[in-house]
Amino acid sequence: MALLPILTAPDPRLKTISEPVAEVNDEIRKLVDDMFETMYEAPGIGLAAIQVGVQKRLLVVDVIGKNDEENDPDPIALINPEITWVSDDDSVYEEGCLSVPAHYADVVRPAEIKVKYLDRDGKEQELHADGLLATCIQHEIDHLDGILFVDHLSALKRNMILRKLLKLKKQAS
Ligand code: NI
Repeated sequence: MALLPILTAPDPRLKTISEPVAEVNDEIRKLVDDMFETMYEAPGIGLAAIQVGVQKRLLVVDVIGKNDEENDPDPIALINPEITWVSDDDSVYEEGCLSVPAHYADVVRPAEIKVKYLDRDGKEQELHADGLLATCIQHEIDHLDGILFVDHLSALKRNMILRKLLKLKKQAS
């Protein structure tokens, strides 16, 4: 396995729409494994392929993680995920993103979703998610469509965060 570099905003690649995975083969499985390793190391609870520069509809999530002493990790890889149902009820979580380091903001999303996807073996699966998992999957699917959580905020808040990130990048280069 290998750690992959994570793109940070502003980066034009994060605004692109990812392509469906044509076949779940060994190359995809290696990408999934590397993405899990990268996500746990970061640490984060979700990672979309475009965040490591791969423009494919693939994401990994684990809202429990490896540091929870009471619960086992719950890694889920979702390939070509499609939301098939959302609840009328909303929930609000303070979101962050490995591609938007050190910034957090409340985002409103449907509280529950159903999502169908292919798993690491290429088998069709359907998941009914609520709580943090529902929010996390929606956040990651947004990435596949070139949307960051800051795009759910007011233009004023979004631009403030993006300007700060750009300034950091310029200082680092
Ligand atoms: Ni994110």
